[in-house]
Amino acid sequence: FHVDLDPKAADRGAYPYYMLKEIDEQPAVLHRIQETYLQDSGIPVLDQEMLNAMAKADRIYIVGAGTSYHAGLVGQTLFEKLAQVPTQAVLASEFAYTDPILSKHPFFIFLTQSGETADSRQVLVRVNEEWQAPSLTITNVENSTLYREASYQLLLQAGPEIAVASTKAYTAQIAVEAVVAKALGTRKQVPAADAFDLQHELSLAANAIQAIVDDKAQIKTVAHKDLATTRNAFYIGRGVDYFVALEAALKLKEISYIQAEGFASGELKHGTIALIEDQTPVIALITQARTASHTRGNIQEVQSRGAQVLTIVSENLAKTSDQLVIPSISELLMPLISVVPAQLLAYYASLERGYNVDQPRNLAKSVTVE
Ligand code: G6P
Repeated sequence: FHVDLDPKAADRGAYPYYMLKEIDEQPAVLHRIQETYLQDSGIPVLDQEMLNAMAKADRIYIVGAGTSYHAGLVGQTLFEKLAQVPTQAVLASEFAYTDPILSKHPFFIFLTQSGETADSRQVLVRVNEEWQAPSLTITNVENSTLYREASYQLLLQAGPEIAVASTKAYTAQIAVEAVVAKALGTRKQVPAADAFDLQHELSLAANAIQAIVDDKAQIKTVAHKDLATTRNAFYIGRGVDYFVALEAALKLKEISYIQAEGFASGELKHGTIALIEDQTPVIALITQARTASHTRGNIQEVQSRGAQVLTIVSENLAKTSDQLVIPSISELLMPLISVVPAQLLAYYASLERGYNVDQPRNLAKSVTVE
């Protein structure tokens, strides 16, 4: 296969690293997704045949690896809330080699930036040959293997992603999942889907990300203070904040080599809190009203054991003691915004430590072995 790279889109320009360029491109990617997939009125323009196939599903399985799996976890909430269909994100490398008891009418969504991940492809082979179920691949690469082998396909519209650590593909995956979830919900006449103004929310998300990337200095300072020499770090949150914590921790591991863990805040006390020492960085994500006070309680638990706490909090839930306050939009789409400070923290931590941000050790952009 070959990949068509637009030489201009792949040009690093004045940026020291592709990763920083790709973080900055996220507002433009969201706009491109709006232009491609939403009418001015906000109604999604998607293949009706695909939506009909999806509407028949009694369960959606979202398959992915690494960052794409994390985007799938966020997708669970989008499909359950907007389309009212039970949805389960699964790790490709696990799902490929187990014998899941599938629902009667499963529909598979494959999330993959490259479209070439062998673990994900292995699942798609089973979907086609063994389970004979319909599938949709959402990928950044037209004509990639997973693109060709699925029943339906949608492109992420993110432009080439060169840095090994994925950033704009993650946010694009969430945005495209939201488009599909809204379209499916509308098709199924789910009131929550009609009430959800996706066009407006994506515009707000793009503006919010722009505001964060315009104010990088603040995040650089925090990375210098808290992440320059630490051996380990934790990201904590609940619900979708937990899913973003997993992605945030992965970013830190991949490029700064800090042993980082994304953790469900309520679960800390059941063992992992033993790892908290004096000055251990704990970064808490708070964007969901329902769980905000619970996570704040967990912050106190780690603080009393000496943790160095940093909070990433949406404006509507913020207190004066919070450090990184981000704009608030619909809670469903807060992962689009809350991940951005985490991407920048990982970027600056890597720089502080003198690593090659775009080419981390032991990692490849596209993993075509199982
Ligand atoms: C590799 C990359 C990760 C990526 C994962 C899945 O391990 O290093 O950044 O998240 O593959 O890739 P995909 O192309 O399927 O999204």
